[in-house]
Amino acid sequence: MCGIVGYIGPKEKKEILLEGLQELEYRGYDSAGIALIENDTLKYFKSIGKLENLRVKTKNYTSEGFGVCIGHTRWATHGKPTELNAHPHLGAYSFVIHNGIIENYQEIKDELLAGGVNFLSQTDTETIVHYFEKNCKRNGHAFEAFQQTVERLQGAYATLLISEAAPDTIFFAKNGSPMLIAFDGDDVYFASSDSPVIGRATEVYYLEDGEYGYAKAGEVKLFDENGEKSFTRQALTADKVLAQKDGYRFFMEKEIYEQSRVMGETMMGRVLDESIVFDELDNSLFEGIKAIKICACGTSYHSALTSAYLFERIAKVRCDVEIASEFRYKEPLLTKDTLFITISQSGETADTLEALKMAKRAGLKSLSICNVDNSSIVRESDAAILTRAGIEKGVASTKAFATQTMVLWMLALYMGQERATVSSARLKAEIGAMLHTPKALIVTDELHAKLHRLSKRYLHGHGFFFIGRDIFFPLALEGALKLKEISYLHAEGYPAGEMKHGPIALADSELFTIALMPKTMHYDKIKSNVEELSARDATILAISPEPFKLADDFIQTQYSSHPMVEFFEMMVVTQLLALEISVRLGNDVDMPRNLAKSVTVE
Ligand code: G6P
Repeated sequence: MCGIVGYIGPKEKKEILLEGLQELEYRGYDSAGIALIENDTLKYFKSIGKLENLRVKTKNYTSEGFGVCIGHTRWATHGKPTELNAHPHLGAYSFVIHNGIIENYQEIKDELLAGGVNFLSQTDTETIVHYFEKNCKRNGHAFEAFQQTVERLQGAYATLLISEAAPDTIFFAKNGSPMLIAFDGDDVYFASSDSPVIGRATEVYYLEDGEYGYAKAGEVKLFDENGEKSFTRQALTADKVLAQKDGYRFFMEKEIYEQSRVMGETMMGRVLDESIVFDELDNSLFEGIKAIKICACGTSYHSALTSAYLFERIAKVRCDVEIASEFRYKEPLLTKDTLFITISQSGETADTLEALKMAKRAGLKSLSICNVDNSSIVRESDAAILTRAGIEKGVASTKAFATQTMVLWMLALYMGQERATVSSARLKAEIGAMLHTPKALIVTDELHAKLHRLSKRYLHGHGFFFIGRDIFFPLALEGALKLKEISYLHAEGYPAGEMKHGPIALADSELFTIALMPKTMHYDKIKSNVEELSARDATILAISPEPFKLADDFIQTQYSSHPMVEFFEMMVVTQLLALEISVRLGNDVDMPRNLAKSVTVE
């Protein structure tokens, strides 16, 4: 989630770094820092909080002449967002910045500590710079030292290192976290995505996993495990918005595709092999807590509804969910043994914020689950868990919903673990399923093409019913909301077992039923519910790992190992269905009529 920028050349470096980091700030803003080598001497500046603080700190500084520089905006994984933990990390004469997680850092750190190295931060990153300097001391050659360092690292990293041992050089390595090298004549740039270099550079090379090397003025040498290799630069677009869409037609489409990757970031450092860890939570938050009350709006409300099943089932704690705008005026009875949770992608929704203030006035402890750090809801809450989805631009929320639901699942498990309501075998099984989730979120060409084809049959009709049971009921609500938001067709989510108590009266061939039929949860029950609808001639689109004979259309899902894995896979299907229907209807997918991304009015 961190942002990386680097530059070698004669231009003023502070502005290149700060402007580049500004483009990446949405990825993380716990702290930021820059380091430069000018006239063979290292200089650095760091500050906590938003980039603006670094801008103020560097107000009176300008770089001069040719030099190398690196900059970083941090999103904390190891260690709290303090200035000492901010990148760049300093050795004796070198600086490093890094995005990702070095999995074997503890082993390297222990070795370095035993050798007398002093560590200033709690980060995994700092090991890189000390290990580099140790190698440098041993063999006296900076690039070889860097090469040996990279060989030792395990995990995900995109890293840049500068050193007085080679003052005209930037060393780089990439594995699992994105990084590119961009070129403008002899000037060389590095960045973790292309927005910082658009408008500055004309050509680009996107590094592959396992690649590393060094750059000096006008010269870039690239290596991988087989030795030095050549690479081909490609033209860099000059259009920022187009670049931000990464070749997708819409932001919403890009965000649906991103879900698999961002889910990894949501879990990073929190989902361990045998336990769930939330560094951001103090255990006093849960002391004396006997119940949970969640307030949210829109899509966030649907993730809350999903979690209510999980909190009761896994953590054995009572959980009620309310729409924030309803909660505000119902004169709710609030007791201090209730943990008040708000969920919000924007962190600014007026109704949710007011509900939170009410709960605080009543003396409840509060926790927010949010995608935007420092937002009003996060600031107002006693504690916050960030969903780490990255900025979401499509008004119809997709990856924010996915990551909220994942955080809530993790939280239910965390509470279960702390309250000893889950066995270690169950905990392991749930964690196994969590780690499997990114796979279930991958959009295959085949799936997308099928939904594109199928969508042409769902452009009319007198309504859609999305039906499901248990956690698939809130997913049905969310599927219907997605379709409503961007297609403007009437859609409802309904508990499948409840259709017979009224809505089934609407059934005819023009009633489209989207049936969520997971294999791992009440399959036979929902099958009967769908059969009842089919008998009344409703058109059925079934989504299930099990072939279903009565379906008019059928999407076969791949995973049937765990209800939540099925949940996430089916979620992607409903999102793509809404997207493809909206595209066929010629609607503005990213900015649907009458809606707003952040609703700060009542
Ligand atoms: C708006 C957005 C929805 C969102 C809802 C709640 O209506 O368009 O996508 O679900 O607000 O927003 P929040 O930021 O609190 O999740």
